[in-house]
Amino acid sequence: LSFTAVIPAAGIGQRMACDYPKQYLPINGQAMLSHSARLFIEHPAIERVVIALHPQDHWFAGLQIANHSKISTVIGGEQRVDSVLAALDVIDSTHWVLVHDAARPCLVKDDLDKLIARAELNQCAILASPVRDTMKCAMANHVIDHTVDRSRLWHAMTPQSFPCDKLRRVLRDALIGGVNVTDEASAMEWAGETVHLVVGRQDNLKVTHPEDLALAEFILARQKR
Ligand code: C5P
Repeated sequence: LSFTAVIPAAGIGQRMACDYPKQYLPINGQAMLSHSARLFIEHPAIERVVIALHPQDHWFAGLQIANHSKISTVIGGEQRVDSVLAALDVIDSTHWVLVHDAARPCLVKDDLDKLIARAELNQCAILASPVRDTMKCAMANHVIDHTVDRSRLWHAMTPQSFPCDKLRRVLRDALIGGVNVTDEASAMEWAGETVHLVVGRQDNLKVTHPEDLALAEFILARQKR
């Protein structure tokens, strides 16, 4: 099989409350996006890394990875799914695609290898971790309605791995169908496709709020030891 990584990095990171997009915030001296892309650049099974950038991106060209031969960029879209579709447009239909958020800098190679192994078995798969907290379903006024059975609940993470042609078709159909596509798997579920959950490290966190940044720094520093 041939693999291409897709990294949607065209968001503006509103929830981080800072002057520039969160994927460029420095973590241990390097932009978050460089950390998120590094594993894919280094992995021998991955032929290309396609990164979707905001039309007004001022920062990517300044990164060291910008000149790497495996990397190409596309202009992203309004929503994350539009950015992913823009990337899929430039990828060979026969490739398997691993979609990974720029905001997840702490991915480890073991977890990436698990997804590649599933693809070799022709399985669509996403990294995920079982929910640990007790989960509440609430009403609009934040009063608890009931407790949800967490034994079947998972946190969906990235990478998420699919054949390129199938993913392109399903994402387009889901958008036309009015589905709220917050990750690739949500469109696949809607289309009735089988998607496997692969238990990944729980510290593959998505940097969303300012306080997540320190945690990502800590996790990455510890991985390097
Ligand atoms: O904002 P959020 O953390 O949900 O974004 C997830 C990922 O999708 C980020 O890497 C972000 O840069 C990317 N994204 C994108 N295009 C958009 C919105 C978000 O590539 N229009």
